[in-house]
Amino acid sequence: MCGITGYVGKRQSLPIVMDQLKRLEYRGYDSSGVALLENGSVHVLKSVGKIRALQDMVERFETQSTTGIGHTRWATHGAPSDANAHPHMDCTGRFAVVHNGIIENYLELREELQMLGHQFKSETDTEVLSHLVEELYEGDLVQTVEETIKKVHGSYAMAVVSNQAKNRIVVARNQSPLVIGLGDGEMFLASDIPAVMPYTRRVLLLEDGDVAIMERDHVEVRHGGKAVERPPFEVTWDEGSAEKAGYEHFMLKEIHEQPQVIRNTLRGRIDDEGTVHIRELEPLEEAIRGAKRVVIAACGTAYHAGCVGKLFMERMLRVPVEIDLASEFRYREPIVDEETLGIVVSQSGETADTLAALREMKGRGAKVVAVVNVVGSSIAREADVPVYTWAGPEICVASTKAYTTQLAVMYLLGLHFANVRGVALEETARLTKELETIPDCVATLMERDDEVERIAATLTEKEDFFFLGRGMDFAVSLEGALKLKEITYLHAEAYAAGEMKHGPLALISPDVPVICLVTSERLREKMISNIKEMKARGGCCLGFLLEGDLQTEQVVDSTFRLPVVDELLMPILSVVPLQMLAYFLARDLGREIDQPRNLAKSVTVE
Ligand code: F6R
Repeated sequence: MCGITGYVGKRQSLPIVMDQLKRLEYRGYDSSGVALLENGSVHVLKSVGKIRALQDMVERFETQSTTGIGHTRWATHGAPSDANAHPHMDCTGRFAVVHNGIIENYLELREELQMLGHQFKSETDTEVLSHLVEELYEGDLVQTVEETIKKVHGSYAMAVVSNQAKNRIVVARNQSPLVIGLGDGEMFLASDIPAVMPYTRRVLLLEDGDVAIMERDHVEVRHGGKAVERPPFEVTWDEGSAEKAGYEHFMLKEIHEQPQVIRNTLRGRIDDEGTVHIRELEPLEEAIRGAKRVVIAACGTAYHAGCVGKLFMERMLRVPVEIDLASEFRYREPIVDEETLGIVVSQSGETADTLAALREMKGRGAKVVAVVNVVGSSIAREADVPVYTWAGPEICVASTKAYTTQLAVMYLLGLHFANVRGVALEETARLTKELETIPDCVATLMERDDEVERIAATLTEKEDFFFLGRGMDFAVSLEGALKLKEITYLHAEAYAAGEMKHGPLALISPDVPVICLVTSERLREKMISNIKEMKARGGCCLGFLLEGDLQTEQVVDSTFRLPVVDELLMPILSVVPLQMLAYFLARDLGREIDQPRNLAKSVTVE
């Protein structure tokens, strides 16, 4: 996720483009840049770091330019750096391009363009666009952009300025958002509506496959080479809610982004034959084949993703898989050697304890894979191989989409390792097929948030909660309880259901809701016995059960029915209503959801 901005009109473009960039910083913030048209030249200013760094640079730059584009980056291809920051230029300095999305065939295109003599300056997929524009340009920029998009596969919102097309911005979109704000004698471009709202409320939304030509007094939208009508609409929301795409909080927005981001995580990692293949892991093939054990370390929510990963990998690989809290790992003299494959999991890639665990693993001779969201972060750089989760920036302190994309990568890793080691091949093929259905299953859960909202409304007077499950369901219970406590400030405890009778049962009373996860047919009978133990002590049991599980339904007080996939994959579905439960309860209690008290998004101290 990156942010694109643009302005063409009579005013100076630079202050407007910069202001728009600041409003889009939540879409990405590892580098930023602008391209300005002035006196027959294209000027590019760009810098690694937050927009503040670019601001310092532009303050020293004299310009009267009235046409400009801007970009704030969330790295995908290539670490954050000055060279990888957008805009990207062609070889001749005539065309500058900004892009949000992923060009899937960029490697092929890059090789073809290099054969034709084009010199690349960055590691990004985007740079192929500026060189393609240069290669295809025959005097008409609009036609060139139309030809360019025919050659690229993937997702893009792009904007091009050129000294060959004065007072014009040419844009195109496919599967990445792009809006044009219609002013009076001026036009505004942005990835999201909030960035145009201070200037105009009349907005035109581009559709997939559209190309648009923005000029001061006119916008023409084309599709398939022909002009089309895209009726503008009037934005009536306030700016704050527009930034959250109309959701009340970033947390809810991020919960709803999950079908799409999980799709992004899987994209390109399952080949045409339906086999998981993670290209980045090729250099570790020998270590994967020879590993006698796997050791995982992480903190918080990422640790909970590791708990699911442990169970999954053990089932697939039949080798011991250990999971440790990163803050404990290095203080227990861990048994790690050259025959150990290490995995660390981190959204931010900067968690101090996880980084220390990674160094400990490497110091003891293990090869380490990092499951990480932030490209170019310390953990991504220090691991032998980073496998990115592609969740995009997560703004809410409480992790939601970061967790489910970590789970998706855990599954991909388990399936990839099994393929490399030549084990459980039939099961691997079946699970891969099921994994591909997960984004759609998650999407169906999004439509049922009202059911969870109703459950939450019955719990606002409660102060203590238990989350129970067995196997994978216990791993998910840990995450459900963490979500609830961090944003509602209520006490919630996760327990392996079979352990309740060894002590905690003493805490069960009608005032303590018990969230019961029952998603394994194999363990159902056992869970029913545990639920009956709660009921006999007056406990109120809220079941999160498989669709069609009438047996458990009879013993619980209320039921949320989950779509059915293989029990190994259930966590990525069953956690979703638990995220929503925490959210709605916190909202009903009037909590500060996106920035809960005492917590920080990235914990860089031990
Ligand atoms: C909880 C949460 C934290 C993080 C933990 C690790 O919602 O977000 O528990 O999971 O601080 O952070 P990362 O994944 O950045 O290493």
